[in-house]
Amino acid sequence: MALSQDFLYQLRLNNDIVDVMASYVNMKKAGRDFVCLCPFHNEKTPSCHIYSDTQSFYCFGCGAGGDVITFIRMAENLDYIESVKYLAERVGMALPEDGNDENLRIRTRLLEMNRKAGEYFHKLLFSEKGQAGLDYFLNRGLSVKTIKRFGLGYADDDWHGLHNYMRGLGYNEDELVQGSLLSRGNNRVFDKFVHRAMFPIFDIRGNVIGFGGRALDTDSHAKYLNSSETLVFKKKNNLFNLNYAKNSNQKTFILCEGYMDVISVYQAGFKGSIATLGTAITSEQARLIRQYAEDVVIAYDSDGAGQKATMKAINLFSENGVSARVLKMDDAKDPDEFIKKYGADAFEMLIDKAGSAIEFEINKLKTGLDMESTEGKTSFLKKAVYLLADISNPIERAVHISNISKLTEISSANIEQGVVNIIKGRRKKSFNEQKRKLINGDFSRDKINPEATQLPAQARAEKGIISCLVNNPSWLEKVLLKLDVDDFPTSFHRKLFEQVKNIIKSGGNPDLSELGKEFSTDEMGKITEIINEYKRFSYDEKMLLDCVDVLVKYKEKSNIKQKEEMSAEELMEFANRLREIKK
Ligand code: UTP
Ligand code: MN
Repeated sequence: MALSQDFLYQLRLNNDIVDVMASYVNMKKAGRDFVCLCPFHNEKTPSCHIYSDTQSFYCFGCGAGGDVITFIRMAENLDYIESVKYLAERVGMALPEDGNDENLRIRTRLLEMNRKAGEYFHKLLFSEKGQAGLDYFLNRGLSVKTIKRFGLGYADDDWHGLHNYMRGLGYNEDELVQGSLLSRGNNRVFDKFVHRAMFPIFDIRGNVIGFGGRALDTDSHAKYLNSSETLVFKKKNNLFNLNYAKNSNQKTFILCEGYMDVISVYQAGFKGSIATLGTAITSEQARLIRQYAEDVVIAYDSDGAGQKATMKAINLFSENGVSARVLKMDDAKDPDEFIKKYGADAFEMLIDKAGSAIEFEINKLKTGLDMESTEGKTSFLKKAVYLLADISNPIERAVHISNISKLTEISSANIEQGVVNIIKGRRKKSFNEQKRKLINGDFSRDKINPEATQLPAQARAEKGIISCLVNNPSWLEKVLLKLDVDDFPTSFHRKLFEQVKNIIKSGGNPDLSELGKEFSTDEMGKITEIINEYKRFSYDEKMLLDCVDVLVKYKEKSNIKQKEEMSAEELMEFANRLREIKK
């Protein structure tokens, strides 16, 4: 799809970055601009700035940045074109002809195909053929209303049920296999889901992206079968029921292990229930949860596997700044069973009583230890002090120390001393690390343009030129009188200058939306930083010429050096240098 400058301009005009970001973050006015906690990394004080005049955002903490399109790419995990589409839909703009974008065409086709398959399964459920499926859901306590709400369905006891139906709609074998609706084996194709209760999986925008199917006859088949990953089904970026949960206004999400749990919990009135898609929870999913909920209660199965998964989830949530609690369920294997046995009110009490993740971890330490013996208490305490040292809130820490003191009959003061020692040790270590970085220079800092560390003055000049040009495209000719693409010594800035030059030469404006077509979201952060320097440092034409001068001198020096006779060592060094630059 060819996106004209004009279209992008209208798109940005209609999607003010402040409005768009306001539905993702809490922003505060700061002078003419806004600040918020960065949605892309974990922080306690806001360092993400939103500039309404340049319609951009930039986080001084993690370097994320860009225009409204970059923001949607990152926040919604969409590619450039999909983000443009998303924003166009948001304000009801028609898209320019998009027939020639192959990728987009396939994705749209896959989504349509999944939607049609979902409708087929759902209709079948309420037909004569689907009786077994409907009985299954009703026997598991779901109401017809719930079944409809989740679009549940039934896959026929027939190896070509869906296949024949979809063929009738004009879908061919290849695309049905690509969409993970058919399987291929021994040169034949057959339905992937046969005689199964079907759970459609929706993305955040309400598209059907895949399915989970539960065997009605578990003796001979895997209990659950999920769609394989496709162009539109990315398990690590999606959560079952997030589309409803995110609009539920529930501050606490309940993370379950299975689809049935999610639906039972939802039916019992807790609309913020979610589950992963048959895989362990990922950082991406943790950040999605953080975006929509204040905290999450982990309600995994009470068996060994569930408890192990709980521990992993706790760690992942802590790494991604999600506050988590753990549901303690006795007398039931999972939330679905618990609700059936004891009802919704009892489940609500469990949620209220859910202890902090730390409590869960501390309890876990006791496993296998004889807590009556001195040895047991000692090895428990040795590990517990490290967990206690992780708690940043002193009051919360004191409560846990007091509990552990009662349990082990060791005084609170003694335990506290052990914890303080660990905290002090950690501080010293991190201080030494900072010092080392300062002395040695942190060479790994510029990941996008690593050569900048070797050529700091030249890299600064390159940035100055680019910043000036983006803000004043007509200055390009002044630069081209003395420099061209190859005279930019660091490769990222060279690529950036080349793009800027090409856009200006073809009569366009090298703004963030144009550049976003060519660069990754990480690179867009860097580019935003460069472009914003113009205003931050009050650049002007003289500054541009000074920067040009730096690169001209560097070019001349390299040329002279080349022409002069060089010693063998110098030649070697020169060659190395060149290789370094070319890399
Ligand atoms: P469970 O077996 O705990 O699900 O698996 P459940 O909801 O309790 O099952 P029933 O229907 O009530 O008996 C939890 C999740 O693990 C994945 C599925 O996503 C399931 O929802 N899973 C499980 C699989 O992918 N394959 C399997 O064979 C089993
Ligand atoms: Mn279960």
